[in-house]
Parts: sequence; C-alpha cells; structure tokens
Amino acid sequence: MQQDTDGDASEFARAKVNLALHITGRREDGYHLLDSLVVFPEIGDRLRLLPGAPPLSLTLGGFFGPQLSQARPDNLVLRAIEALAGACCQPPLRAGLLLEKNLPVASGIGGGSADAAAALRLAARMTGVDLPQAEWLALALSLGADVPVCLEQKAVRMSGIGEKLHPAPPLPPAGIVLVNPLKEVSTPAIFRALTQRDNPPLPALPSSFGSCGELAEWLKSCRNDMQEAAEALCPEITEVLAALGEAKGSLLARMSGSGATCFALCAPQDAASIAAGIEKSHPEWWVASSGKIR
Ligand code: C5P
Repeated sequence: MQQDTDGDASEFARAKVNLALHITGRREDGYHLLDSLVVFPEIGDRLRLLPGAPPLSLTLGGFFGPQLSQARPDNLVLRAIEALAGACCQPPLRAGLLLEKNLPVASGIGGGSADAAAALRLAARMTGVDLPQAEWLALALSLGADVPVCLEQKAVRMSGIGEKLHPAPPLPPAGIVLVNPLKEVSTPAIFRALTQRDNPPLPALPSSFGSCGELAEWLKSCRNDMQEAAEALCPEITEVLAALGEAKGSLLARMSGSGATCFALCAPQDAASIAAGIEKSHPEWWVASSGKIR
C-alpha cells in the first residue's frame, strides 16, 4: 500500500472532500448507497510515532485535540491498529502515538476516517505487514464507510456505501477552501432526515477536465443530496455557503459529506486570498485552504 510520509515516523491524514455526492438508494441494513466524486486537499491531521516502544497508546494534540476529550479505547486510530494486528495474527504495534487533530470533529470531511486510514498505513509500515488489496479494503470498510477511500488519498469516484472505488479522470490544477462554522453535525441524523433516497447517479464523467473552470461547470450538473437536510438542521451552513459562493475567485460552493464543512473550488492561486477574506469577515469560523488537490 502506498505510504504518505513526511519524515520517517508520521503519516498525513488528508481531509476527504465530496465535490459531488448523490444518494442513490438504501441497503436493507439501513446504510445508504451513494455516488460521489472525492478529492483530497493538502489539509489534514498528522499521526506521529513517538520515540520508544511502550504499549500502544494515543495522545491527542492540535487545535481540535481537546475536543476529542479522552483517547478512549474505542478511538478509531487505536481500533484500526488493533484490527490490523488481528487481521495479520500479530501483536499490535508497540508505540506511543500522537494525533495532531487539525480538522474539526464530526464535520463531513472524514477526519476520523482519515485518521484510521493513516493509522493502518503507519502500523503496516512500522510492523512490515502487508495484505492483499481486497483485504486492505475489507479491513478499512470494517472501521467505517469512508475509511477505504482515505487509504489511498487520491481522487476517485466512490460508490456502494464507500467500498467501490473507481479512478477519477485526471484532475486539473485546482484549489480548495474549506470552511466550517464550528457546529458538529451528526452523520446518522442527516441520513435519517433525508426525504429522498433514490436520486439519479452522477452524470457521466468526461475523460479529463481541461481546467478547474471545466471541472466546476461539470460539478454544477451534480449536487450534494445531503445539503438540504443539513442546512435545515444547521442553518449556519447556509451562511457559510453564501460566503464561499460570493468570494472573488470562487467557482463553486457546496457542502462536503454530511456537513457542516463546505468548500469553494477555485484556481490554485485564488485559494489563499479567498480563505483570508473569509477569516477576516468570520473569525469565528474554521477556515483552511490548499492550492492543490489530488
Ligand atoms: O460508516 P460510518 O461509521 O462512517 O457511518 C456512520 C453512520 O452513518 C452509520 O452508522 C450510518 O447510520 C450512516 N451511514 C449511512 N450510509 C453510508 C455511510 C454512513 O447510512 N453510506
């Protein structure tokens, strides 16, 4: 599996952004079927290995670390490492881990899933284990529907409940601005509030996008089918979308996942100035930008 290291003993856990998300049905077990174009900006948490080889433990840092309160044994990072050990019939990694939690919690950009995927990559690298691709995906899916897509952190079209991953067409250079009004949104609550669950899938994807303007135009023929329900439960989302839509250089504003984080798609060189403008007008919001998506 591809690693994403920056230095030798850490993994970057990029946010996942649903540029489009259609809800196309529901399985008998209650999980929803979706069709989504997912990309990854250079914005994320970082999972670091601390020196020494103590029993497995997790310390939380970063701006949003305190919000995760205690690193309880059911934290997804620890569960991922235990699950990998179980799948490989090995004892779990002996390590102290530090999770720098830079992404807001319960915010529609897959923070917990990205952390779990980073834990799988880090533990695999440190213990030297490997699994066939299908087993990696099954293990990831057992931890959460968004964990498989976060393993590779590359643009994909995702369907099923998140387990079917198809390569996306090559992306043009593009920037992303993420804004969250710092209101936690419960994913199951938004799924429950949906009034329509049998929407059409994404329209056919072109073989490539010539520019970020072309990508934005294609995205305008798509939606996030969870946006309306999320706005009803969390009205601040409407304000965030207005601010992102009105910003100079913004090509498209939409919510990611079940919210409340929304994004603006823009040219790479516009991301920082859009973010600076919103930070100035709304210092109470979380704002992050990336001049690159993958
Ligand atoms: O898989 P994950 O733990 O991220 O999902 C959280 C909750 O969101 C699930 O328990 C389920 O209620 C809902 N969900 C869903 N359909 C999906 C993904 C999640 O209904 N495809």
